[in-house]
Amino acid sequence: MSDLIQLGAVNERPRAPRPEELELKFSEKAVQQLEALKSHYPNLKALVLPGLWMAQREYGGTLTAEAIAEVAHRLGRSYAEVEGVATYYSMYNTDHAVGRHMIEVCTCLSCHMCGAYRIGDYLKEKLGVDYGETTSDGMFTLHEVECLDACDRAPLLQVGDQYHGPVDYAYVDKMLDELRKEESTVVKLADEIVKVHLLNGKD
Ligand code: FES
Repeated sequence: MSDLIQLGAVNERPRAPRPEELELKFSEKAVQQLEALKSHYPNLKALVLPGLWMAQREYGGTLTAEAIAEVAHRLGRSYAEVEGVATYYSMYNTDHAVGRHMIEVCTCLSCHMCGAYRIGDYLKEKLGVDYGETTSDGMFTLHEVECLDACDRAPLLQVGDQYHGPVDYAYVDKMLDELRKEESTVVKLADEIVKVHLLNGKD
């Protein structure tokens, strides 16, 4: 079987919940924010992106099939349409349950030249995970990413809405200790992005 046929044949996405299985979990605050956003956009289709950020926040950082179904339900879109959007953009977490903090390691040219691979290997060893994996205590998810557009701070890490760089081993140790005491930066990032959407479109 060719790679192309395999890619088309293997479907590991979770099954879409049936309408009768749907348990709406958006908080009152999220429902109100979604309602407020309706006046910022020309139609409900345009609300899919902010709706998914809201869901990522409300569902603890991961867009499960239930989270995607709730966005589809609240915006009157099909599950397939919303899932297609969610799985297209890498900042929506649809692959697996992410940790409380997502550490993104830039390994593009400037960061690579400044030791990003050594930093990545150090993180992998300290956390006991590879890129794309989450620690067993659910604390950290590690990802390798393309240029984060702050090459002057190479080697650079992103955690939630914060850049960290230039980093060395001592900085990484301290950063991990501090993150262990913090609330979810994955949820915080989603909340910050929802706030930006709420500000946009306001006169
Ligand atoms: S190469 Fe790492 S931020 Fe640009």
